Amino acid sequence: MQLALDLKAEIRELKRARNAVILAHNYQTGDIQDVADYVGDSLGLAYQAKATDADVIVFCGVHFMAETAKIVNPAKIVVLPDKDAGCSLEQSCPADQLAAFLETNREKNYYVIAYINCSGGVKALCDVICTSGNAVKIVNLAPADRPILFVPDANLGAWVMEQTGRKMDLWQGACYVHVEFTRDSINRIKTEYPDALVVAHPECTQAVRLLADEVCSTEKMVTYCKNAPVKDIIVVTESGMLHRLKRECPDKNLIPGPTDRCACADCRYMKMNTMEKLRNCLRDLAPRVEMDEETRQRAELPLLRMLEQSK
Ligand code: 13P
Ligand code: SF4
Repeated sequence: MQLALDLKAEIRELKRARNAVILAHNYQTGDIQDVADYVGDSLGLAYQAKATDADVIVFCGVHFMAETAKIVNPAKIVVLPDKDAGCSLEQSCPADQLAAFLETNREKNYYVIAYINCSGGVKALCDVICTSGNAVKIVNLAPADRPILFVPDANLGAWVMEQTGRKMDLWQGACYVHVEFTRDSINRIKTEYPDALVVAHPECTQAVRLLADEVCSTEKMVTYCKNAPVKDIIVVTESGMLHRLKRECPDKNLIPGPTDRCACADCRYMKMNTMEKLRNCLRDLAPRVEMDEETRQRAELPLLRMLEQSK
């Protein structure tokens, strides 16, 4: 206990000495969320990263999120606790494969929309970026006279098609965490809590989304749970979300959505970050996010377009 307190105090002191800001995603462990300056979804974190006047951005999330911070605020030092914190969606769409696909389909003149869960190299090939929080809006603003290619999440893409009525060609990537929820696993927990509402992330499969009362980004889950007219809410997303929700909605009974194997779902990449690694990256200013300037500049344009369009 004393050790944990010391670590927290050490992190706060290093943060002050470095003039750093700690940004944490909703899926981080509770202790990291509690020491962060801002906890939110990918969209909120991108706005925070762009607006900060701190010298150092410590990004507690996965690599593509820290890279996004560097793209929109290149003058800052951006560090992350574990540089190997990846994402299965990012891995499903390597930049060279997307470039080859676009070259082969050049005559289609695709308007390319990339979910933010992708590498800087993929962002550099796109027209606009979206997050789960603004995907419907971004797709509604796409030019009507061009076909859309949506990368890399096929489940999010399918949900956006349902919401907008706009047909899109979908890259076949998936979040390995959210596809673990099944119709059976969610139906089982619904039987246990018959009065509960169900909120699910759009990275879930359609079979699971159909069982949800609301499908939304992690940040919108906070508003949904706060305003829900019932006590029991089944939360179908990564387990870290429960910490944020319990803090914001203390009067609710928040139940993690189970998979067929586990009582809740953890993202192994998000959970690579620890308080020790957070302390170390503040102390050593490493590992840092670096990227070549040409790719960064090309990736910045679609990101800025997104920030503008989702205001
Ligand atoms: P949000 O933008 O909704 O926080 O989602 C990010 C993510 O990685 C979901 O798996
Ligand atoms: Fe990527 Fe899924 Fe982990 Fe989110 S939960 S970071 S989409 S692997």
